Amino acid sequence: MEQLGIGIAGTGNIAGGYADDIVTHPEIRLVAATDLDSSRAAAFGEAHDCRIHRSLDELLADPAVDIVVNLTVHQAHYAITKQALEAGKHVYSEKPFALRTEQAWELVELARSRGLRLGCSPATFLGEAQQTAAGVIRSGRLGQVRAIYADVSWGRLETWHPAPQAFHEVGALFDVGVYPLTLVTTMIGPATSVGASGWELMPDRQTLSGERFRIGSPDLVMSTVELQGGAVLRLTTSFYVGAPVKGQGSIEFHGDDASLFLGSFQNFDAEVELGPFGGDYAPVELVRPGPARIAWARGVAEMAQAMAEGRPHRASAEQAAHVVEILEAAARSVADGGRRVSISSTFSPPPLLSWAEPTPA
Ligand SMILES: NC(=O)c1ccc[n+]([C@@H]2O[C@H](COP(=O)([O-])OP(=O)(O)OC[C@H]3O[C@@H](n4cnc5c(N)ncnc54)[C@H](O)[C@@H]3O)[C@@H](O)[C@H]2O)c1
Repeated sequence: MEQLGIGIAGTGNIAGGYADDIVTHPEIRLVAATDLDSSRAAAFGEAHDCRIHRSLDELLADPAVDIVVNLTVHQAHYAITKQALEAGKHVYSEKPFALRTEQAWELVELARSRGLRLGCSPATFLGEAQQTAAGVIRSGRLGQVRAIYADVSWGRLETWHPAPQAFHEVGALFDVGVYPLTLVTTMIGPATSVGASGWELMPDRQTLSGERFRIGSPDLVMSTVELQGGAVLRLTTSFYVGAPVKGQGSIEFHGDDASLFLGSFQNFDAEVELGPFGGDYAPVELVRPGPARIAWARGVAEMAQAMAEGRPHRASAEQAAHVVEILEAAARSVADGGRRVSISSTFSPPPLLSWAEPTPA
């Protein structure tokens, strides 16, 4: 298989995780990177042995770059992805795909009209634990799933992230709410409406370097999302509550016959447990062992493999745009006293990976 060249835009906190994981995938190879901060980019080039370009224009003119991986801040995702597509590059973006629904679907259309691939994180549904959970749910062992509880209590990121302001400006719902929303819509299907309430519990924060700032959006949002088929997701997202909270990143799917517990939306080795209604949870063996973290490049590697095989990739732009619509609708609901907002877009949930398919009896 031809190896596709990856060019990273944005060599910040998460770029090292991508670079370390890219080398484990034979479909892709890191060739170049760029960042507004030239010294940060230079240090990244040194550490990961790739070319550093002085600007995005230069990166986009590099013929060795087949796929641009957009790891810039949330606020820049739309503009950078658009510019890369217009330059004829395939793109894989970190989440959220865009901050506005209209912009998200514009990108989907742009990629489609140019015949380019466009993928987006989170691709955590490709993890071993998450694929195991999806397989159990799709097998029908829970009966009809009617209620889902998800918590992302991600704590006060200014206590560890060197540049937390961009995250607090968009808030926990847009930053980490995308993880359960992507997993749940993968496993159950698209959303039809959302209602939400939000609070700014601790508006004044301080960076690690002592700079004071105010958060720009609620640090606690409670949403209820109705899904096609009638299931309801209760989603809590917070940049105030964090460790030692017990429901930090777990999801429970409750069906007529049984419930399934997924211990983490992100760790690929998370516990998966299944229990009959009224009984106890018992562990489910994972379809294969997974790493105790996110394998960051798995989504873009799967996209490269799909390109070689001429089939759709799984971390689709359509699903990412649908999730942006849920986020924007939830934010509108928060601003409008919790009124329910309808979701009009839809997408086709991705199939299980071949290694997670049940073996025929
Ligand atoms: N940090 C994490 O743990 C984490 C985890 C999952 C996903 N993400 C996602 O990854 C993205 C980046 O997060 P991060 O933590 O690395 O942020 P960061 O602030 O550490 O890094 C972002 C980098 O993008 C650069 N940048 C911004 N605008 C740019 C532009 N127009 N052109 C080129 N470079 C530009 C910045 O200079 C910075 O170096 C975010 O969207 C976030 O949602 C981060």
